[in-house]
Amino acid sequence: MSRTLFVTTALPYANGSFHIGHIMEYIQADIWVRSMRMAGHTVHFVGADDAHGAPIMLRAEKEGITPRELVARYAAERPQYLDGFHIRFDHWHSTDSPENVALSQDIYRALKAEGLIETRPIEQFYDPVKGMFLADRYIKGECPKCHAKDQYGDSCEVCGAVYSPTELIKPYSALTGAEPVLKTSEHFFFKLSDPRCVAFLQDWTTGANAAGNKRLQAEVLAKTREWLGAQDGQAKLGDWDISRDAPYFGIEIPDAPGKYFYVWLDAPVGYLASLKAYCQKAGLDFDALLDPAGPTEQVHFIGKDIIYFHALFWPAMLKFAGRKTPDQLNVHGFITVSGEKMSKSRGTGISPLRYLELGMNAEWLRYYIAAKLNARVEDLDFNPDDFVARVNSDLVGKYVNIASRAANFIARHFEGKLAYAGDAAALGQELAQAAEAMRRDLQAREYGRAIREAMGLADRVNQAFDAAQPWVLAKGIANAGQAQKDQLQDICSRALAGFKALSVMLAPVLPQLAERVARELFGMDRGFVWRDAGELPTQVAPFKHLMQRVEPAMLDALFEPPAQEQASAPAPGGEPIAPVIGIDDFARVDLRIARIVDCQHVEGSTKLLRLTLDVGEGRHRNVFSGIKSAYQPQDLVGKLTVMVANLAPRKMKFGVSEGMVLAASHADEKTDAGIYVLEPFPGAQPGMRVR
Ligand code: 2FM
Ligand code: ZN
Repeated sequence: MSRTLFVTTALPYANGSFHIGHIMEYIQADIWVRSMRMAGHTVHFVGADDAHGAPIMLRAEKEGITPRELVARYAAERPQYLDGFHIRFDHWHSTDSPENVALSQDIYRALKAEGLIETRPIEQFYDPVKGMFLADRYIKGECPKCHAKDQYGDSCEVCGAVYSPTELIKPYSALTGAEPVLKTSEHFFFKLSDPRCVAFLQDWTTGANAAGNKRLQAEVLAKTREWLGAQDGQAKLGDWDISRDAPYFGIEIPDAPGKYFYVWLDAPVGYLASLKAYCQKAGLDFDALLDPAGPTEQVHFIGKDIIYFHALFWPAMLKFAGRKTPDQLNVHGFITVSGEKMSKSRGTGISPLRYLELGMNAEWLRYYIAAKLNARVEDLDFNPDDFVARVNSDLVGKYVNIASRAANFIARHFEGKLAYAGDAAALGQELAQAAEAMRRDLQAREYGRAIREAMGLADRVNQAFDAAQPWVLAKGIANAGQAQKDQLQDICSRALAGFKALSVMLAPVLPQLAERVARELFGMDRGFVWRDAGELPTQVAPFKHLMQRVEPAMLDALFEPPAQEQASAPAPGGEPIAPVIGIDDFARVDLRIARIVDCQHVEGSTKLLRLTLDVGEGRHRNVFSGIKSAYQPQDLVGKLTVMVANLAPRKMKFGVSEGMVLAASHADEKTDAGIYVLEPFPGAQPGMRVR
């Protein structure tokens, strides 16, 4: 039965470039969408920028531009990423759009009519200089427990204490340094604690949808059970504060001058706004598509950090506004790089744009990510060696090579004609079955298992081909008897039928390659659909080169720390502060005073300098640092600096780097503030520990 699917990915904040985590999510969703389409289902796949909120407003202000200009800048760079990785949304929109204003306000009015909106006075810190209320992250002060200075308004990074901003000693605004004052204002709440909401969410989270798919993964269900108080029957849901006071970049609350929707209210409504704009463009009936009683299934792909919003607030908002509720939440984990959490600053992250600029094939990454994804909420590790191995030995070695090996014999000896001896129907059936298994795995988001399915088939095809030794049969084939010719043709035809089925199976993952195989090798006038897998091909064009192997040096280049080239979004006052760590975490980082005994340019690198460092160990260390844009080598020789002395040595394109020199910079390449190597006060000696 053909299904109609409305599919979205989480809407990215419009104050930063896409990072590898975004790309992973979009690839996951794109593979799913393509696979469903190949099965004949109708899919509407949309995304949008999440444009509102205080961080975007303050960031724009700092840059001296309007929030809309900031949003437009990031919107303009989205296509090169999406096109580059073959991520094919039907439409990309913005939450800062007329559709979203209308839909958000409609939903709000409906909730209000249901008696689910309430106002209450809230006392909050206010920055009298800036003239705005301060969220906890914009308030700092002395920890009330351990008296550490400059701690954030919600918790202490030194002792780990959790408190409210009003408990801070000598609080100050992180925006202006001013002493905040307590001020009362009227806030709007969505009454999530209302028994109707609680009952609905109990039902929505535990119910399964019509297609027999689970609406929530087991891990997600467990979380919602906890939030909904399944253990003690006591729902722990508080009412949700959905308003913010001016100045705020957001959508005005109807009939409430100076009040705006909190960004997380209008963000998910952006899914609907994007679909609506798409419907207008494509001539579809938006209201019919999202009829609560209609057949459309609403599917959201999101990361594990935003489950709360999508499993509680969002379904409840939709339900009590009389709208269709989501049918499936597909939650994925984070992406780590060589086991480390992604960092947007020096070195560890993978820049998607750099990946493309280096000429690396987008389909390698799609394949690698697919091979490592499953349907659970697990983190996925990008490991460079594993990446090279999987792409070169599996993708190119097992799959692509089948075509080059078999197609040449067919071109040379049989004018491109394929013919099967014996039971060809059984072969067709076997291939159709393999494809069906893969289709089911992809539908269930068990991509790793699906890829193993495909590689299992590739192994079987290669083994049959090798066992039949076609190269032996091909020797002297011109003078051989018909039986030998038939045998050679059969062996190669079977291998190519296998290759075609594999191309169908991998088409959702490798859309561009599969399209070329369909059109150029098998002469089709369209891309593959699932049922093509069992149709045995009858002709093949001469083999054309299909896919390059990865050069390991490309991975080195990918990991070369781009000096000031990180695209990330500094929060007000700079880059967002990293998650809290304890003193033990800090102690694990061994910082030492180092003398720069030598410094050289690195041939072939536009960003790096090679430093020779003395850390008082009786030997010298070689460290590469992305500071070439800021320093001449001779300016650094003889100077003292601070280095991370226990960082695992890293193999880079130009050699091994044995540590990292500390330098200050903005994370944003667009602010031209430069990069500054740290230097200790006079008197420090090489080898001293910094603590
Ligand atoms: O966490 C984030 O990046 C949010 N911008 C996601 C929003 S998803 C949806 F609700 F719009
Ligand atoms: Zn403390």
